[in-house]
Amino acid sequence: MHKVIVETDIKQGKINKNIYGHFAEHLGRGIYEGIWVGEDSSIPNTRGIRNDVLDALKAIEIPVLRWPGGCFADEYHWKNGVGTREHRKRMVNTHWGGVTESNHFGTHEFLMLCELVGAEPYICGNVGSGTVQEMSEWIEYLTLNGESPMANWRAENGRYEPWQVTNFGVGNENWGCGGNMRPEYYADLYKQFQTYIRDYSGNKLYKIAGGASDDNFHWTDVLMREAAPHLDGLSLHYYTIPGEHWHAKGSATDFSEDEWNTTMEKALLIEELIEKHGTIMDKYDPEKRVGMIIDEWGTWFDVEPGSNPGFLYQQNTIRDALVAGASLNIFNSHCDRVQMANIAQTINVLQAMVLTEREKMILTPTYHVFNMFKVHQDADKLALHLETETIRHKEKSFRQISASASQAQDGRINISLCNLDHQRQAKLHLDFRGAQFSEVTGRILTAESKNAHNTFEEPENVHPEAFNDITNGDNGLELQLPAMSIVVLRLKET
Ligand code: AHR
Repeated sequence: MHKVIVETDIKQGKINKNIYGHFAEHLGRGIYEGIWVGEDSSIPNTRGIRNDVLDALKAIEIPVLRWPGGCFADEYHWKNGVGTREHRKRMVNTHWGGVTESNHFGTHEFLMLCELVGAEPYICGNVGSGTVQEMSEWIEYLTLNGESPMANWRAENGRYEPWQVTNFGVGNENWGCGGNMRPEYYADLYKQFQTYIRDYSGNKLYKIAGGASDDNFHWTDVLMREAAPHLDGLSLHYYTIPGEHWHAKGSATDFSEDEWNTTMEKALLIEELIEKHGTIMDKYDPEKRVGMIIDEWGTWFDVEPGSNPGFLYQQNTIRDALVAGASLNIFNSHCDRVQMANIAQTINVLQAMVLTEREKMILTPTYHVFNMFKVHQDADKLALHLETETIRHKEKSFRQISASASQAQDGRINISLCNLDHQRQAKLHLDFRGAQFSEVTGRILTAESKNAHNTFEEPENVHPEAFNDITNGDNGLELQLPAMSIVVLRLKET
């Protein structure tokens, strides 16, 4: 028997809605085809952005969207992506398949997308191959209200009013594709670049430094030591890769029981990384003013057979859904430090929400998790105690149940639970320390087989349903969580 105790009267801070953020890079069919089809496309669109994708993204209430990279960000020169589309300079996307980038999706198109979806933009600037002036002028172009060379140019390009752009990244993975730098060198560059990105016309930037990946604790330490007063956020990247080698990450759909367990165990490792990077951040910033921004996370498998290896196109199963659910529970639990997270990547790339094939579109199991978990956005985290069994796997072990709880602004209590075992159901006792509820409703996402996924032929293979396996027990509720399931309960206090 597993046990979850929720202390409904102990609130432990706000779950920043931006934890439910997304990331869309100029990579493969993520932007082009996935989002941008152009105004003349036969695919129904709103000023060039496909309508089916817009509707899907609106429904999950994406709070924030990161763009244009990733590695692409440190090769991107924003001035080539504004003005009349036919006259925009083309470039080669050297990181991702060496394809020609038309620059048709640029600053105006991205910010239009954010406005249509209702998401805050999070733009990542170019440190690796860009200049201080280029970055400084981008902010002027975006946010200055009044007379200036960049604001005038923006108006000539069709946008008189400035945009509100608060989240701004100063480079990406600068230890690797963003310039192969030492942390000491990048910390100096960060301080230099951030000096010249100004707060214009009442717009207040939230400046995010390119952070570490995985267990590169030295990077976090140096950045905090050298630059903490100049940081609003420091990023962290972590991907769940079951394979042992970069060239053999494992298939997204054809995997063994062993790979299932490895995937779960590696996904849960993010908690240890948050705690360890967080401890370093605490040393320099005990008040937790600087946000930990997990702006790339998710599963990374081998590309689908026959697809371009540079496009990172992968299918998405109930296994991905459990990785998403467990990760979001962890982010909720660490909402004192984690202020934003952006799953990689929204459409047709890595752990996507949506897959497209020309005019067709399907929603992935991961999409459904984001839809079910959106109730946690900006809610108050509630204290939660979990007693669960462990699943032993090789020399390691991981917890079978993952959970988090919050109280939304409408007063409802939301509890998200994942059963990470793909074979065993879990009987779970939920205790609310005396609180009484007049109404309990639940949704469940589960599947019959561990590699169940949606296809263009069968788009509803994995979809959420009502969850009714709830009975009243002594001091709480008794639940039966099926194997490999994600459940979100909503409760109304009497
Ligand atoms: O998301 C794919 C790539 O992974 C990003 O471009 C890069 O930042 C990371 O290494």
